[in-house]
Amino acid sequence: MAQVKLKDVSKIFGKGIAAVDGINLEVADKEFVVLVGPSGSGKSTTLRLIAGLENVTSGNIYIGGKIVNDIPPKDRDIAMVFQNYALYPHMNVYENMSFALRLRKYPRSEINSRVRKTADILGITHLLNREPRELSGGERQRVALGRAIVRKPSVFLFDEPLSNLDAKMRTLMRTELRRLHIRLQSTMIYVTHDQVEAMTLGARIAVMNEGRIQQFDEPLRIYDSPVNKFVAGFIGSPPMNFINGKVVKKDGALFFDEGEFLVKIPSFMQNKLPGYIGREVILGIRPENIYDRLFVSFASSDNTLRAVCEVIEPMGSNNHLHFATQNSSFVAIADSHDRPAIGEYLEIVFDMNKVHFFDKDSGETIV
Ligand SMILES: Nc1ncnc2c1ncn2[C@@H]1O[C@H](COP(=O)(O)OP(=O)(O)O)[C@@H](O)[C@H]1O
Ligand SMILES: [Mg+2]
Repeated sequence: MAQVKLKDVSKIFGKGIAAVDGINLEVADKEFVVLVGPSGSGKSTTLRLIAGLENVTSGNIYIGGKIVNDIPPKDRDIAMVFQNYALYPHMNVYENMSFALRLRKYPRSEINSRVRKTADILGITHLLNREPRELSGGERQRVALGRAIVRKPSVFLFDEPLSNLDAKMRTLMRTELRRLHIRLQSTMIYVTHDQVEAMTLGARIAVMNEGRIQQFDEPLRIYDSPVNKFVAGFIGSPPMNFINGKVVKKDGALFFDEGEFLVKIPSFMQNKLPGYIGREVILGIRPENIYDRLFVSFASSDNTLRAVCEVIEPMGSNNHLHFATQNSSFVAIADSHDRPAIGEYLEIVFDMNKVHFFDKDSGETIV
């Protein structure tokens, strides 16, 4: 059993920089968890603490229920794959993959069977005699993975292992990693700054910012119910639109007043917002919840506004339309045949049942 648990873990470097600031995280046995966040948010440090490459400043790390704070990396039964997977240049693929096992004096037949089986899983059997310089980036990354797999660790730690690959290879390797996880049945913790990678890979994702875990949940729950503006804006592409405005009361109901337009806050949200009447809040709406009025049947004066289409970005399967009012700008995902005239006012519909409101000062989600 290889659950990984971090309890109140902090890591403070030299001049008082809290790279990791009181993290609590429980990764179940055989689970695939992704740590995602912008550069500098403490992802690599968290991973290195689990690996034992850094010591915690405070808190405890448990692997398989045991505190491992004082256990050296080599005795933690983990394998780590980095972005810069340095293969030994003078060894061929077989020698690279078998190196750790030879170091640990495994019997030759055991080494041979593990390397061949792993090479088979990764589809690199035909490369076993080649040297690293004779491999493409994707092939090298597979060898680096293979080197970790042959050790049969109970926990795999990945630190942005696909960042050096081109977009197509990244997508391919992503699917392979999923398959690998099902096949190997190991606990995997995967670090990335790429929210698409996080959404597609993780059974659960921990969104990090400034050394703290902001939210830890299943991808779609984070997408649908972000706990704060940071998470809302980080997960999703193109990102959620944020629009500044005020909550106002009119005819007994609450509205969001952007200055140039007024939209009605749905009844199921109304009881969360009375404390904000007359105050500024931020409305969040995802690009897929904004429509050209011509294409929807639920338009009304309560959810329709006028905005100028400034830019159309054709994506093939759809168009990204960039709109602006005097006060705000936002992006909508529209049908690829929806090509409004540039520079002209258009009637836009917000699906108000899908919007979020955020506290302007704290950034916390109001609803
Ligand atoms: N060895 C170190 N010494 C001092 N500061 C460090 C060290 N390693 C990381 N940091 C700092 O800790 C913070 C988190 O870094 P890191 O964990 O590498 O972030 P990420 O992997 O999310 O980009 C950053 O501000 C970084 O500059
Ligand atoms: Mg990093």
